[in-house]
Amino acid sequence: MSLSLLLDDPAEILTALPTEPKLYQHGPERFRPLLTREEVDAMIDSGTLSMKNIVLLKDGTAVDPRIYDDHGMPQAGYVRRHLNEAGTLSLRGLDRMRPVIADLAKSLAHQTGYQVHVNGYYTPAGGHGLRYHYDRYVTLIVQISGQKAWPLHPPFVEYPLAEYGNFTSRGFTDDERHYLEFTPPTQTYTLNPGDVFWLPRGYIHSPHTVGDEPSLHLTIALHERTGQWVAAEVANQILRQALSDPAMRAGLAPAVLGQPGDAVEEARAYLVGALAKADLGELTAAVRRAAFPPA
Ligand SMILES: [Fe+2]
Repeated sequence: MSLSLLLDDPAEILTALPTEPKLYQHGPERFRPLLTREEVDAMIDSGTLSMKNIVLLKDGTAVDPRIYDDHGMPQAGYVRRHLNEAGTLSLRGLDRMRPVIADLAKSLAHQTGYQVHVNGYYTPAGGHGLRYHYDRYVTLIVQISGQKAWPLHPPFVEYPLAEYGNFTSRGFTDDERHYLEFTPPTQTYTLNPGDVFWLPRGYIHSPHTVGDEPSLHLTIALHERTGQWVAAEVANQILRQALSDPAMRAGLAPAVLGQPGDAVEEARAYLVGALAKADLGELTAAVRRAAFPPA
């Protein structure tokens, strides 16, 4: 149900994830029930946004929050001034702030088996949010109002994850930075109100507003499950079973840890044996439960 609010082909998406960017166009009113620009303006000007709800971006990076933090709330008028000076407001964790977005995120998680979080981005005319970067999850961009252009480059890191190729910790190499500076984007998508944009994990993007109006969009992050995740769940099941064996719970002398070769060999033999004997039906049910926990 929830994917069908966003995409035209939910059944296909559930069967095979798109590996290329994909644009879906709907009417401009479609997502007003989720959030409107007027509501965000009211949140800003009524002073009801706390520091944990926001990140302010300027010139491609986050403004140091210590500059405007006043006991957990942004200084009065600071966010509005920031927007007036072409800064971007990022609303963090809208799935924990707004019931209608919480319901959407829960429903998407229930439908996909993925973890889901939702942020908002409010950028004035002529403004630029983050400069070229990539994310370690699929992003579904839901354009609420105004227009935004998405210049893209294909991934430098294939299937980046938090543990590997996280942009924040990795950044770009000098060669990559040089390439991005001098190479025009391979594609640019311009989103209008009601559009939804599927941006696969790892695509490099540098969105900016187009036209005279501020742009407001939701970023719905879908944290894909991977083969490594399934392997980790299977391994966790085996390790949980190991706890029922007193021999596996017995302490190892410090000398064993100094020369752990035999212990490692025994552990490998245990794991190989336990994996070979494991009931595939039970493992399958456990993996399914981990992806789709009972409500
Ligand atoms: Fe991004």
